Amino acid sequence: MADPSTYVIFGSTGNLSRIKLMPALYHLDAVGKLPLETKILAIGRSIQDRDEFISKVREWISEKARGGLDSMLFERFSNRLLYVKGDLTEPEMYQRLNSLLENRYAFPGNVAYYMAIRPADFGGVIDNLGQVGLLDESDGWKRVVIEKPFGYDLKSAQALQQRISRHLKEEQVYRIDHYLGKSTVRNVLVFRFANLLLEPVWNRHYIDHIQITHSEQLGVGSRAAFYDGVGALRDMIQSHLLQLMTLVAMEPPASMTAEDLRDEKVKVLKSIRPIPQDAVHEHVCRAQYTAGTINGDQSVVGYLDEENVPQGSTTETYAAMKLYIDNWRWRGVPFYLRTGKRMAEGRSMVSICFKQPPQQFYCDASEELRHNWVLLGIQPDECLRMEVTVKEPGLAMHTRQTSLDAGLRLEGEDTTDAYEDLLLDVIEGDRSLFLRYDEVEYAWRVMQPVLNEWSSNRDSIATYPAGSWGPKESCQLFDSEKHQWRHNLEPFK
Ligand code: BG6
Repeated sequence: MADPSTYVIFGSTGNLSRIKLMPALYHLDAVGKLPLETKILAIGRSIQDRDEFISKVREWISEKARGGLDSMLFERFSNRLLYVKGDLTEPEMYQRLNSLLENRYAFPGNVAYYMAIRPADFGGVIDNLGQVGLLDESDGWKRVVIEKPFGYDLKSAQALQQRISRHLKEEQVYRIDHYLGKSTVRNVLVFRFANLLLEPVWNRHYIDHIQITHSEQLGVGSRAAFYDGVGALRDMIQSHLLQLMTLVAMEPPASMTAEDLRDEKVKVLKSIRPIPQDAVHEHVCRAQYTAGTINGDQSVVGYLDEENVPQGSTTETYAAMKLYIDNWRWRGVPFYLRTGKRMAEGRSMVSICFKQPPQQFYCDASEELRHNWVLLGIQPDECLRMEVTVKEPGLAMHTRQTSLDAGLRLEGEDTTDAYEDLLLDVIEGDRSLFLRYDEVEYAWRVMQPVLNEWSSNRDSIATYPAGSWGPKESCQLFDSEKHQWRHNLEPFK
C-alpha cells in the first residue's frame, strides 16, 4: 500500500481531469489502493465551490465508472475531495495553498502535484510552488507530475528543464506518457523478456521491417486551439510512438528498476540515425484531412472547417516517419511510424515483418513468397498474433497463412485505464513508466531537423480524405516496393 498522501490537481476542472484523472482516482479508491488518510485537493477556476465541484465530479464519474457509479463508494471518495478556487498566475493562491497544506491533521505531508494544465504554464506553477516552499521535502516527499508535451522543440524542452531543476531533483519529476500505462504496451516488455522464444530472431538478421501505427477515427474535435499549434508529429510521434519503438527495440536491461530500464531506452534513442534536414521529405510525410466519410455513411468536415482551426492552417493531422536504429541489433531495419486523425479506423498496433526463408519449397514461381508477421495489438484489440504458413488440407500441396493468437484478456477480466496504473505509480514512487529528462531530450533531437524543415516550408501540405488510411505519398517512405502499410489484424492480402 502506498504512503498516505495528498494529490493536488492543478487544472481540476479541465478535460483531462474530467475524463481521466477523477475517474482513475475513483477506481483506485474503489479497489482499496488509496490509504484512508489520502486527500485530493483540486484547484480550478471555473467552478465556484466544493459542493458544485463534487456534484460535477459525480457526473464525470457516472459517465466513466466501470459497472456504473456506486453511491457508497462515491460517498467515501468525495470525503477525500477538497476544492480551491484559484488563479495559477496569482502568487497569493500559492500562499493560501501553503497554509492549507500545513495542516497535518487534514493533509498528509507527502504531496503529488499533477499539472493538468496548459504546457505553457508548467514552468510558472513550479516556480510558484518552489518559492513558497511547497516543494520542500523535509516533512514528506513532494512529486510533480508533468503532462506532455515537455517543451515544443529541443530548445524549449531544455529551457523548461533548466527552469524546473531550480526547484526539483530529477527523482521528484514524473513526466507522464499515458501510452506507457496501457496494459498491452507494458506487455511488450513481458512478451520480449519473459519468453525466450523470440529473442534469437529479434534482430536485423531475421526482421525485415517494423511498423508502429496509431490511427484514430476521431477528428480534432474541440481541441483545435491546442492541436493546431502542435500537429501530429509532436502530439503523437515524438512522445507515444517513439516510446513504443524504444520498448520494441531496447536491449534487455540489467534489472527492471526505473534507472536500468530508462538507460536502455535512452540508448535506443541515441542510436537513431539523424535525419539530414535536406532529406526530410524522404523520411517523413505529413498531411491534413479533408472532408470525407467515416463509418460507411457519416459525412464529416475537413480539418480546415473544424471549429477554431485558423484559416489556411497547414498543421499536419497525419504524420508518417521512417527511422533507422544504427546499432548491432537493428542496423538496416526500417521502422515506420505513423499516426493520423480521421482515419478509416481507430487502432494502435505494432507489426513486425520477418524476412522470407532463404528457399521456398511450398509455392510455385507465380506465387508471392510469404512473410511471418508478429502483431502486437494495443487497442482496441489487445492481443499477440503470430502469422505462420501451413499446408491446406487435401491431396495437393497448397499452403495458406494462419495465425497463432494469444488474447491478453480472459473473459470477465476487467480493463483498467492507463491513468489508474500511472497515478498509483506516482504515490508508490515507481518511476519506471515515466520519462527521464534525457529520454525527452533525445526524442526532441530526433524530431528537430523535421521541425526545422517544416517550419521553413509552411506553404502547402498533402491531404487525405477523412475516413481513409492517409495520403498515398506516405508510401514513398518505403525502402522496398514490397513494403505496404499493415492497417489491422486481418490476414494480409
Ligand atoms: C494524446 C494526444 O496524448 O493521446 C491525443 O494528445 C490522442 O491527440 C491521444 O488522441 C491518444 O491516446 P488514446 O489513449 O486516447 O488512444
